[in-house]
Formats: sequence, C-alpha cells, structure tokens
Amino acid sequence: MQINPLSDILGAEVVGLDVGNLDKANLKTVQEAFLKYHVLVFREQKLLPEQQIQFATNFGKLDVHIQKDNQYSGHEAMQILSNKKINGKYIGSPSAGDAWHSDLSYTDIPTLCTMLYAVEIPEVGGDTEWSNMYKAYDTLSSEVKSRLKGLHARHTFNRFRNPRIEVPDVYKGKGKERYVDVAPPDAIHPVVRTHPETGHKALYISERFTIGIEELEEEEGQLLLDELIAHQKNRDFIYRHKWSQGDLTIWDNRCLIHLACGGVPEGQIRHMHRVIVRGDKPF
Ligand code: OGA
Ligand code: MN
Repeated sequence: MQINPLSDILGAEVVGLDVGNLDKANLKTVQEAFLKYHVLVFREQKLLPEQQIQFATNFGKLDVHIQKDNQYSGHEAMQILSNKKINGKYIGSPSAGDAWHSDLSYTDIPTLCTMLYAVEIPEVGGDTEWSNMYKAYDTLSSEVKSRLKGLHARHTFNRFRNPRIEVPDVYKGKGKERYVDVAPPDAIHPVVRTHPETGHKALYISERFTIGIEELEEEEGQLLLDELIAHQKNRDFIYRHKWSQGDLTIWDNRCLIHLACGGVPEGQIRHMHRVIVRGDKPF
C-alpha cells in the first residue's frame, strides 16, 4: 500500500489496497492516514454494496439518511447519487451536495465520515471540493477567534428557511416534500468544534445548513455568518477532486466542508454509491 498526498492542504490517495480485503495492520494505517489527510481516495476499487458497507463499519455505526427515495434496494444504509433516469425518473439524487456543507450537521449527531464510491464517471464535470476547517479556524484573526468563543449556530435541512441558497431546478415545485416535510428539528452546535480524536479546533458552520447564530441579534449574526462563509471558501483551504471510475473516497466531516461542483453535461452519467458513519455530538 502506498499513500500519496494529493495537495498541500488536504487529501491523499491510497494505491495498491483492496478495501474489500483488509487486514488489521492495514486498517490501522488507513485510520491514521484518515486523521492526517482528512480525505482518502482509494484507487481502483471494485466494490459490491456489501463490501463498501462492511468497510464503513470499521469507522463506526452506519446512519440512514432522512430521504429514503435514493436508497439502494435491499441496503437502507446505502444511497445512490446519480443523474441516470429510468422511465423518466432519476434513480438516485442528481443534485446532492450542491452548496458547501458538512454532512448531517442539521441533526444532533452529525456524520463522522462519508464514503462515496465512483461507479460511473462523466468525462466532464462532477468534481468534488473539500475545504479544510482546521485551517479556516487557525487563520482567523485573534479578534474573530475571541468573538466566536461560546457562540452556537442553528442548522436546518429546510432550504426555504435559508436565504443563502435555493431549491435546485430538479426539485422546483416539489420543495416542500423534499426539504420541509422530512426536516428534523433544528440542531444547535458550537460555531467552533473540537475534533474528538485530534483535539484540534475546526470552524463548524456552512452555507447550506447554518441559518443563524443563537447568541446574536439576527442582523449581527447574519453579518458574522457572511464573513465566516466567505472565509471558508478561500482557495488556499480547498482541494478539488477529479474522479476516476473506481475511486472510493472517505472524508472527515468533523474538520471539512465539501461541495458537489456539478457541471455534468446532458447525456453523461455520474453514478455513485454513498454510505455515512454516525459521529458524536459536537462540542
Ligand atoms: C455527499 C456529497 C458530493 C458529490 O455525498 O455527501 O455531498 O460530489 N457529495 O457528490
Ligand atoms: Mn455531502
């Protein structure tokens, strides 16, 4: 097994390892690399759904997403992200992750890590970006850092309550079913969280899910969020991944935010299998 960094800021590829056939020593190496690089890309995997699910359980307990319509038949822990259609209907979510976010931050117990497996990849578009939230926190001025001390943010799944984002075109007219009816109660999390394994601090808000700061007046909170959200998108913190068929990525939602870049032309297919591992309550 070889581990090669993909950028200076985050991410490494793992070459020469079949994650469907892993021994204890390799698993330990992988888990250490995961904490060090935050995103791992296992190249040239050939994974059945059961094998991906089995590999994910090495990182914790699997979670089931609130939207059930993209589940892989027979495996409720697996979701399909896809722009493939059968009888005019998408067979998976075609637009998941289209605004910067950390997975499931709108719940009390958000996602530890997400595993996304590239079954079919378009020639153009469909990249994913990750931004390093340790770095985002570390590079704030000491004034802003002390301002953030003790602050909590409100996160919601409901797109209609978030003025910074819109309902994607594919769900126009069906937004209520998708984003309101299934939304759990808002989650309140510290604006700066401590990673439970590394002990480092990370900025924990996002454009997609964060809608306010609990301790501040509405306008002051929105201005602070605007400032932090702009800071999170600093290109120096970001790695952009161009997928290859067979890539299995795993990323740490406790110290990263991520974005589906979109831009897949009509007629090209992007088809992915996704599994999420439940984390713990942010502190
Ligand atoms: C996700 C996600 C991004 C992408 O699976 O959680 O945001 O590029 N995916 O598919
Ligand atoms: Mn996501």
